[in-house]
Amino acid sequence: MKKLIALLLAVVMVLGLVACGSEASAPAAEGSAAAEGSAAAEGSAAAPAAEGGQTVGIAMPTKSLERWNRDGEYLKNEFEAAGYAVELKYSDNDTDQQNNDIANMIADGVDILIVAAIDGESLTNTLNEAKEKGIPVISYDRLIMNTDAISYYVSFDNYTVGVLQGQFVIDTLGLDVNDTSKTYNIEFTAGDPADNNAGYFFNGAFDTLKPYIDAGILNIPSGKTTFEQVATPSWSTDTALENMQNTLASYYSDGTILDIALCSNDSTALGVAQAIQSDYNGGNTPIITGQDGDIANLANVVDGIQTMTVYKNVSDEAGVTLVLAQAILKGETPDAGLLSSLKAEAAYDTESYDNGTGIIPSYLLVPWTVTKDNLQDLVDTGLYQWDAANKYLETVG
Ligand code: GAL
Repeated sequence: MKKLIALLLAVVMVLGLVACGSEASAPAAEGSAAAEGSAAAEGSAAAPAAEGGQTVGIAMPTKSLERWNRDGEYLKNEFEAAGYAVELKYSDNDTDQQNNDIANMIADGVDILIVAAIDGESLTNTLNEAKEKGIPVISYDRLIMNTDAISYYVSFDNYTVGVLQGQFVIDTLGLDVNDTSKTYNIEFTAGDPADNNAGYFFNGAFDTLKPYIDAGILNIPSGKTTFEQVATPSWSTDTALENMQNTLASYYSDGTILDIALCSNDSTALGVAQAIQSDYNGGNTPIITGQDGDIANLANVVDGIQTMTVYKNVSDEAGVTLVLAQAILKGETPDAGLLSSLKAEAAYDTESYDNGTGIIPSYLLVPWTVTKDNLQDLVDTGLYQWDAANKYLETVG
């Protein structure tokens, strides 16, 4: 018996070590105030002006959504490895704080700013200040609106993210627009109205599915067909959970079957999946889409709770941003020619993204669909590894 207890203790200790290891290597844990606070501390630690070098100011929206932890970490590593000093700030999804954080970085004299906006409409004045001081600004992932202080936009093809989700539904159910013999019920969950990307994701998915909606093959029992009706402020998991609980209570409690929950990203998919698990009695497992390849969602994909996620390699996004920033800091005016010096596949786009002051030239990376069947492709990027039990994925790093 003693031996058994000793053995169990040893197992527990080893598991504990493994857990510690994975936590240390994973991007900082989800949104506790403490995590956000430490990020702010990290940011406010005076920019260590690199000897003769240049300083890069990086503004990320929040630590409470997994992907931005990865973005911040990859950007910081890329720029530091290239010899820049880095000032990295997370602004707790608070627009005023992000304005302050960026103003502080301008005051610190950063040479270039890389900004993933919390609210694309709210940075105009602060970024105009950057422009006056001659500090170039790269709009990172989310387009910043209403300021000509933005030199470039680096992102993924955001509309295609939604198209991939819609196409996944069509392929998985084998939909044929001329075959109305089988019908399905679908509900949409979209993102934050303050995030310029959110509309692109929703429209990409909705436009792709519209022919099937028009043909009566896909029905939306809630009648919530517009972005505004299904938007989720701050991309909040809790709000997505509540909204889906309300939808289920109002339109599905009579046994109506839900076949598809089309969610724009993983943080909302997490809430929707919880609502379905706790409040849905239809007996089937609805298709749930997502975006980002967050660790919790990849686990749900393994467990069959979430069906797919659209993966965006944010390490590549950071790499493209570095090459672009280097060219800008050398005084060049990058264009399509820059593509040949990028390590990742991207398109140079001078048509799609108008921020209200004109078109912002954009470098757009390529998103792809991840399901249970191609999780190994994530491992092959070198950014993920199987956990000790070879069941779930965790981040490397
Ligand atoms: C979007 C981003 C997505 C998702 C979402 C919530 O702007 O493009 O990848 O992470 O924000 O953070």
